[in-house]
Amino acid sequence: MTTAKVQIDGNEYELPVFQGSEQETGIDIASLRGASKAITFDPGYGNTGSCKSAITFIDGEKGILRHRGYAIEDLAAHATFTKVAYLMMNGELPNADELKAFESAINKDLSVPQGISSLVEQFPTTAHPMSVVSSAIAAFSSFYPDYDQDSALAANAQRLMGHIVTVATAYYRRTQGETPIAYDDSLGYCGNFLKMMYAKGDGYEVPESLENALNMLLIVHADHEQNCSTSTVRMVGSSQAPLFASISAGVSALWGPLHGGANQAVIEMLQEIQDQGGDYEKSMEMAKDKESGFRLMGFGHRVYKNFDPRATILKAACDRVLDELGVEDPLLDIAKNLERIALEDEYFVKRNLYPNVDFYSGIIYRAMGIPVDMFTVMFAIGRMPGWIAHWLEQHGEGGKIHRPRQIYTGENFRSYPV
Ligand code: CMC
Repeated sequence: MTTAKVQIDGNEYELPVFQGSEQETGIDIASLRGASKAITFDPGYGNTGSCKSAITFIDGEKGILRHRGYAIEDLAAHATFTKVAYLMMNGELPNADELKAFESAINKDLSVPQGISSLVEQFPTTAHPMSVVSSAIAAFSSFYPDYDQDSALAANAQRLMGHIVTVATAYYRRTQGETPIAYDDSLGYCGNFLKMMYAKGDGYEVPESLENALNMLLIVHADHEQNCSTSTVRMVGSSQAPLFASISAGVSALWGPLHGGANQAVIEMLQEIQDQGGDYEKSMEMAKDKESGFRLMGFGHRVYKNFDPRATILKAACDRVLDELGVEDPLLDIAKNLERIALEDEYFVKRNLYPNVDFYSGIIYRAMGIPVDMFTVMFAIGRMPGWIAHWLEQHGEGGKIHRPRQIYTGENFRSYPV
């Protein structure tokens, strides 16, 4: 076995080294504190492996993303979102019978208990949809007495997949002054989402172009290994908190603009550039000026240091989908111009900053008629299989509670004044 050696104050400590199936090297530092009293320090966990996982592989230098061994490019081009969700949670692609059973169970879970419908009706129509979705998911445990039973894990995973669509679309309809509509058993997952969002009367036909675009968007978001929200799901799950509670925490972690909330922030940024006359070069200058506090939203990534393969897929899809939908969006031109000058700019080149998944996704959502404040909910719907798969993987392994340490920098002991 290879080992790594650490020297502290003249003492040497030998640490085991191991490799993953793609030859990534890990140094197991678990014994270091016991032996030396020293801890490793890595704020933001940029260089910390928190678990072993067999779900998703990323090579950030080469721009590779694979789920259970399958390339994201192949999945986005040829799979359906429910197939990818099954793959994620079960490790293998489903056969025809398995897929049918999985899809039909999720379809049935597009119907929610009356209490959840009533809960959604209590939110003010000014609420951010992410607040509604994370609260509703936290509440699922109240409506299902088997929420913490291992025998109900598959059922609860399917409930999450179905119910999130129902909660999101019901709340959207509420903001439009419309009542929720029931799912349609003749439609699939994406078809039902679209019908439950947009149907006004009986005659709504799901446009194929919208269904295909949504399918591709959800697949592209399905998992991304130990990102902030997935790590949150694992962190909460490590205390043996149940699935619904852990996923609700993941939704909250996704909300922030440095993570899933970036898709909303990108469109707001592009809109602001357009409203102020389209001067994208000014925004570029601001993004480079640390004093401005402004970042180019949808740019940069903790792991990808060359390109984000999801952004490549979405950029190509942007032109195709907008063309199919007959939509012209001036924000797409601004986005492309920003990307062009950023890729030539020394500041961005030096720091390996490239468009990420959130840079182009919002332009497609916008063309599909999804309101801007629901973009991050769309991300959450797409990320659901990944969160569930990670929770299940960790739960199946048992393992320790996640409990990082810290370096204390506060006051030393002092006497309390009496
Ligand atoms: N605009 C301008 N400068 C940036 C940007 C940006 N978007 N992103 C990073 N930098 C600079 C940063 O100021 C730092 O510069 P310096 O070395 O001079 O201090 C350097 O690049 C490294 O940045 P970092 O913040 O240390 O990198 P990180 O790995 O901690 O953060 C990130 C990654 C995605 C949070 C960050 O790039 C960012 O804030 N991007 C904008 C928000 C965004 O698009 N988020 C979506 C991420 S992808 C999808 C998802 O996770 O949901």
